Amino acid sequence: MPDMLVKLYELPALAPHQERLAKAGIKLRHPLAFEKRAVVDWVNQEFGAEWASECDVAFAKQPVSCIIAVQDGKLLGFACYDVTCKGFFGPTGVTAEARGQGVGRALLLAALHGLAEMGYAYAIIGGAGPVDFYQKTVGAIEIEGSVPGIYRDRLPAGDQT
Ligand SMILES: CC(C)(COP(=O)(O)OP(=O)(O)OC[C@H]1O[C@@H](n2cnc3c(N)ncnc32)[C@H](O)[C@@H]1OP(=O)(O)O)[C@@H](O)C(=O)NCCC(=O)NCCS
Repeated sequence: MPDMLVKLYELPALAPHQERLAKAGIKLRHPLAFEKRAVVDWVNQEFGAEWASECDVAFAKQPVSCIIAVQDGKLLGFACYDVTCKGFFGPTGVTAEARGQGVGRALLLAALHGLAEMGYAYAIIGGAGPVDFYQKTVGAIEIEGSVPGIYRDRLPAGDQT
């Protein structure tokens, strides 16, 4: 899984995507500190201990460098930024039943706009799984020679509860 580079100065607007989701009752927002356990536990259950660890780091920042998608009080997805390394996007995930309705793209755009606001000119998608998704949605390009990148010599993941 290569890292990918994204130009933050040519990002598509978030608003149309956010408005479309809002019509379906799906809201994107930063989680608040008192929601940390709920969000991190959900990420652990849906996507495993390593992504939960990274999500946990997002809560050490203010504003929390994570965006969540919520519908009827239930989490549908999350996206973190500036947690794995400075300027990195990820991890991100949408629960299986909620995929294919634009939630993943809106989370990605919201997080990348967050990085742009922090002053970055480029973002790095760390260990991009679905490369085509990132190419299509934000014109990301693969960084040559980036496998295994920072993900070498890693310790085994901790327990997933
Ligand atoms: C990748 C993921 C976040 C996409 O979320 P999603 O809500 O289903 O994506 P969207 O509905 O916003 O899709 C936006 C566009 O990307 C396309 N797309 C979605 N997933 C794709 C994939 N895996 N490969 C290629 N294109 C994809 C959609 O078809 C859609 O295209 P359209 O504009 O022509 O309709 C989701 O599939 C997921 O959580 N996967 C498991 C975790 C994961 O791989 N995370 C990324 C780790 S780097």
